[in-house]
Amino acid sequence: MSTQLEQQLMHPVCEEMSEFSQTKVTVVGVGQVGMACAFSILTQHVASELALVDVVADKLHGEVKDLQHGLAFTKGMTVKGDTDYKVSAGSRLCIVTAGVRQREGESRLNLVQRNVAIFKGIIPNLVKYSPNTIIMVVSNPVDILTYVAWRLSGLPKNRVFGSGTNLDTARFRFLIGEKLQIAPSSVHGYIIGEHGDTSVPVWSGTSIAGVSLVGLIPQIGTDRDMDEWKDLHKDVVESAYEIIRLKGYTSWAIGLSVSTLAQSVLRNQNAVFALTTLAKGYHGIEKDVFLSLPCVLGEHGVRHVIKQQLNLQEIQQLRNSAETLADVIKELQLPAPTLE
Ligand SMILES: NC(=O)c1ccc[n+]([C@@H]2O[C@H](COP(=O)([O-])OP(=O)(O)OC[C@H]3O[C@@H](n4cnc5c(N)ncnc54)[C@H](O)[C@@H]3O)[C@@H](O)[C@H]2O)c1
Repeated sequence: MSTQLEQQLMHPVCEEMSEFSQTKVTVVGVGQVGMACAFSILTQHVASELALVDVVADKLHGEVKDLQHGLAFTKGMTVKGDTDYKVSAGSRLCIVTAGVRQREGESRLNLVQRNVAIFKGIIPNLVKYSPNTIIMVVSNPVDILTYVAWRLSGLPKNRVFGSGTNLDTARFRFLIGEKLQIAPSSVHGYIIGEHGDTSVPVWSGTSIAGVSLVGLIPQIGTDRDMDEWKDLHKDVVESAYEIIRLKGYTSWAIGLSVSTLAQSVLRNQNAVFALTTLAKGYHGIEKDVFLSLPCVLGEHGVRHVIKQQLNLQEIQQLRNSAETLADVIKELQLPAPTLE
């Protein structure tokens, strides 16, 4: 319904637009990560509409107003926020960053029970107001919580994914690039598996301009590697703990990563990212676990999983990662899956 001022100012030409917007994005959780995601989405012009949801009303409304006051400097977008999930109605993509944060030295898997309880209040509400949505989980432990979101949502597996090891992959590419003085965007490689301690660096598929690094140094990154590359994956795994120790949380890189993933969905870019997806049936994984594999990401969510040619050691590491996650999943109390 228009206000008096709107009626005085403008002639209506057509009916109100429908509630459904092709590029509406909801971010749940306006903490450090949620706001870094929101800010990246805003500044990279990824969405036409942004809705924010959180349980802490003052913080939420403060963040909404602060973003709204910057809209004069961005290109065509609206920002709204509410503690009521109604504000998320018609979202094409819902990004979940809510949850309790990793404490200094706490493993991501330790966070699980606290965040499962929170998800039981979030996921059904998102699906209620946006039954056609795609859900991206960012909260940690992201692989477990993506599985939880899939089970709680009743959505098909392509429409529920996690930000996964896309961030670990970015750190991997940065650290390799830093050593070689090459831009991270020109270093091609993936970290797959758990977003966490058991993640798997795929050295066998890492290349620069088509030149395979394993082709040059066959033992690169392995225990047999006596060179500077041996600890690179350890540095990737430890970098999150290091940043948390130094500044209390991580935010900017995950925000940029999430915004790039959102673009791939909303613009149907079909770009390939290491994302948390249902891994059953791939590389000999037989259980219902979610972990990161290279995924083609478009308007329907995860469209395909790339059949990476892993070596035997990488396959074994990936299966170990899957077992670690399966051990956690079997402790969870959740409804049965409705759709695959
Ligand atoms: N996947 C990744 O690569 C990655 C990277 C960094 C952080 N994270 C994870 O993201 C999550 C958020 O981190 P943060 O630093 O923003 O934490 P934070 O404490 O700053 O923010 C969390 C927000 O969630 C909100 N919240 C809590 N319960 C809620 C509920 N039931 N409904 C709606 N909102 C709720 C809180 O009010 C708070 O605003 C953590 O789980 C963290 O481990 C993931």
